[in-house]
Amino acid sequence: MCGIVGYIGKNNCLPLLIEGLKRLEYRGYDSSGISCLHQGSISTFKKTGKIVNMEATVPKSLSATIGIGHTRWATHGGVTDENSHPHLSQNNKFAIVHNGIIENYKTLKTHLENDGYTFRSSTDSEVIAHLLEKNYTGDFEKSFHKTLSLLEGTYGIVALSLDNPDYLMIGRKGSPLVLGIGNDEMFVASDVSAFLGHTKQVVYLEDNEISKLSINNFKTTDFTLEEKKKEIATIDWDISELNKNNFEHYLLKEIYEQPESIRRAFAGRFMESIGTAKLGGLNMTPQELINIDRVGVIACGTSYHAGLVGSYVLEELARVPTAVHIASEIRYKNPIVDKNSVYFAVSQSGETIDTFLAMKEFQRKGSRVLGICNVVGSTIPRESNGGVYVHSGPEISVASTKAFTSQLTVFYLFSLLMGRMKDVSQQKGIELIQALKMIPEQIEEILKSTEKIQSIAKEYSKLDNFLFLGRGISYPVALEGALKLKEISYRHAEGIPAGEIKHGPIALIDKNTPVIFIVPKDHLQEKMISNIEEVKARGGRLLAICTPNNQRVKELVHDYIEIPECDPLLSPLLSIIPLQLLAYYVAKELGCDIDQPRNLAKSVTVE
Ligand code: G6P
Repeated sequence: MCGIVGYIGKNNCLPLLIEGLKRLEYRGYDSSGISCLHQGSISTFKKTGKIVNMEATVPKSLSATIGIGHTRWATHGGVTDENSHPHLSQNNKFAIVHNGIIENYKTLKTHLENDGYTFRSSTDSEVIAHLLEKNYTGDFEKSFHKTLSLLEGTYGIVALSLDNPDYLMIGRKGSPLVLGIGNDEMFVASDVSAFLGHTKQVVYLEDNEISKLSINNFKTTDFTLEEKKKEIATIDWDISELNKNNFEHYLLKEIYEQPESIRRAFAGRFMESIGTAKLGGLNMTPQELINIDRVGVIACGTSYHAGLVGSYVLEELARVPTAVHIASEIRYKNPIVDKNSVYFAVSQSGETIDTFLAMKEFQRKGSRVLGICNVVGSTIPRESNGGVYVHSGPEISVASTKAFTSQLTVFYLFSLLMGRMKDVSQQKGIELIQALKMIPEQIEEILKSTEKIQSIAKEYSKLDNFLFLGRGISYPVALEGALKLKEISYRHAEGIPAGEIKHGPIALIDKNTPVIFIVPKDHLQEKMISNIEEVKARGGRLLAICTPNNQRVKELVHDYIEIPECDPLLSPLLSIIPLQLLAYYVAKELGCDIDQPRNLAKSVTVE
């Protein structure tokens, strides 16, 4: 979603701001802009569309040492140049960039208009710039504090003042911001990738914190002006991880990274000789773990699908009832919280607002919420009661792939840990670990069929309305396969539990309907074969994901992609790979914007 970058330092900020915004492109956006202090005025450049459109309007000769930039994902007001950020105050004395939503902007706007302020945009954000000017009595810091005290809603704000060229003011409430500490230069951004090429020293701002950022220092206070002591953290990954290397798209690179990212997710977390796992970050004693009698998962999108797979695994291995909730639904449902329940907030970004707010609601009701997140230092892990990082490394493509399989890996580890405290024998535990350790190589095996998948995708890209069918643990894989296709190729796709096909969806089938069956070797294989027969009898273009020895399936369908045999519980880690590749190649065939699909955002920070 919207991205923020700000700079103050000894260098020309313009290329740094533009580079930072380009690093944030992956979050999804529809317009961009920058403002800088130049020769006694605030120069501003904003344009809809790609950052290069905006960049083209910035004179090459322009140089400035303090500035702010933004990528906007429209919420209030259409996609226009005027609605793009930065927004300027009436007399162009202040410029602001804002992520989040100002809920009381209408009231504030009416008051400001009554006071003679003229609005140039139809955004909620513009009120902030005018309020800064209205509240200014010669002290920018004071005016910033006063302005923030009038705002309701969520925000990450960076403000620039014409009369105060030595510092930027920054405020956070519900929308992440991080400072980058350099030598004679400072950065601020909505995520570290914006400035990682320049410094790895960072300071994460918490909610309700305000920072004053100068060339060589920063001061952070809370909203009552009490100074807060902030720790400087070091980012442990490298800018090179943000590059595409030799891949045409980040999505393909991230699909190919999965053998490695899964290895990273389980590295150091097995206790192989006793067939169990260790997850230090849970902050739970063995007694507390054994007392868990229910698990809940809260998540959105792909992370929700990971939670669904997790529920099958947890119930099977640990025999603990597990409910999976869509975060935006459960948070308004007055959730019932059991005293011996544990909840997992699953989120790649660690910033998804619905997941975060659902987590808060569970915590308010006295529940323990553990994070399963990828982005280190993000909001959910920081505010959870413990958790596990999945360590996928940066995931840049909007559609999630490697984070999904790493989230699954963490669910396997947790289920193993719980299972070994309950029903699972040492021997079964050891076997599961061995099977998990083989998964990366088995994925490498699947990746060898990329060419075949590409040619299947070419054919299927001519079709529309895809049905993905799976049973048991393959049902969430069907959902995720359908979501991938929808997200990046804009083809309509539905994931359906195969047993439900007779209860409605079979009416959709004709000879042009592509139907994708997920048939790993498990106890439901025979049932899936019956479903294939049913669909075949009604036409349909049939594609199966199946194991090499499954001759019956291969004979029934038009096309198949093989996945190796594995422990049935682990099969989602394998069966999702061809579906990710299929979505990728269909989208490529259709010429879609694969890494930044239309209308989507990587990290959804507004409700
Ligand atoms: C957005 C992204 C999806 C992602 C979902 C949840 O919709 O486009 O790819 O699955 O948010 O994100 P999270 O960061 O919480 O996993």
